[in-house]
Amino acid sequence: MSTVNILGFAGSLREKSYNRAALRAAQQLLPEDARLEIVDLSPIPPFNEEQEKTPPAAVSDFKRRIRAADAILIATPEYNYSIPGVLKNAIDWASRPYGDSAWSGKPVAILGASVGKLGTARAQYHLRQIFVFLDMHPLNQPEVMIGPAGDAFDAAGELKDEKTRELMRKQLKALVAWTQALTQGRALGLVP
Ligand SMILES: Cc1cc2nc3c(=O)[nH]c(=O)nc-3n(C[C@H](O)[C@H](O)[C@H](O)COP(=O)(O)O)c2cc1C
Repeated sequence: MSTVNILGFAGSLREKSYNRAALRAAQQLLPEDARLEIVDLSPIPPFNEEQEKTPPAAVSDFKRRIRAADAILIATPEYNYSIPGVLKNAIDWASRPYGDSAWSGKPVAILGASVGKLGTARAQYHLRQIFVFLDMHPLNQPEVMIGPAGDAFDAAGELKDEKTRELMRKQLKALVAWTQALTQGRALGLVP
C-alpha cells in the first residue's frame, strides 16, 4: 500500500473549535506515507429516516468520501459526558440505509479536546461503543485526550503543547500501520 488516505472530521461546527484545530494540527504531524483530508459536517442536515434511501447531496458526498478513504480520524468534543449530536447525526446518516453503511471494516482513530481535565475520555468511550455495531476497527493506543484544551492551544488555534504533538504523531503513525496491517490481512483472506 503506497499512501494511506485518511478522512478526518470534527464533531464541532464552531469556527474556533479546539477539535477542528486539532485536526489541522494532525495534517502537520502525519507520517510521510499518509494524507489527511478534512471534511466539514456543517452541510449535513438532521437525520430523517424517510430520506435515507434518497439522501441529501451532502450525505451522499460524505458517504462517497468515507468509502474512498483508507482510514478515518474523528476529533470529538465532549457534550454532557457523550459525543455531540452533530457527530452522532453524521455517523447515523452514513450508516444507513440498513445494509449500505459506509463505515463497515474501516480502521478509525479518535482524538478529542475539551475544556475539562479528562479531555473527552467519556465521549471517546461512547464513540468506541458505537464502533461495535458499525463494525469498524478502532485503534486502541495511543489515546489522545486533550484537556484542558485552553492550555494546549494558543489564541490563534495552534497546538503548541509539544507532549500532545508527540502523542498525536505516535497515534497517526499507529493508525497508518494499523490500516496497512488490515489491508494486508484482507489481501491474504485473514480479515473479512
Ligand atoms: C452542550 C455542551 C456540553 C458540554 N459538556 C461537556 C462535558 O461533558 N465535558 C467536558 O469536558 N466539556 C463539556 N463541554 C465543554 C466543551 O469541552 C467545550 O465547549 C469545547 O470547547 C467543545 O469543543 P470545541 O472547542 O471543539 O467546539 C460542553 C459544552 C457544551 C456546549
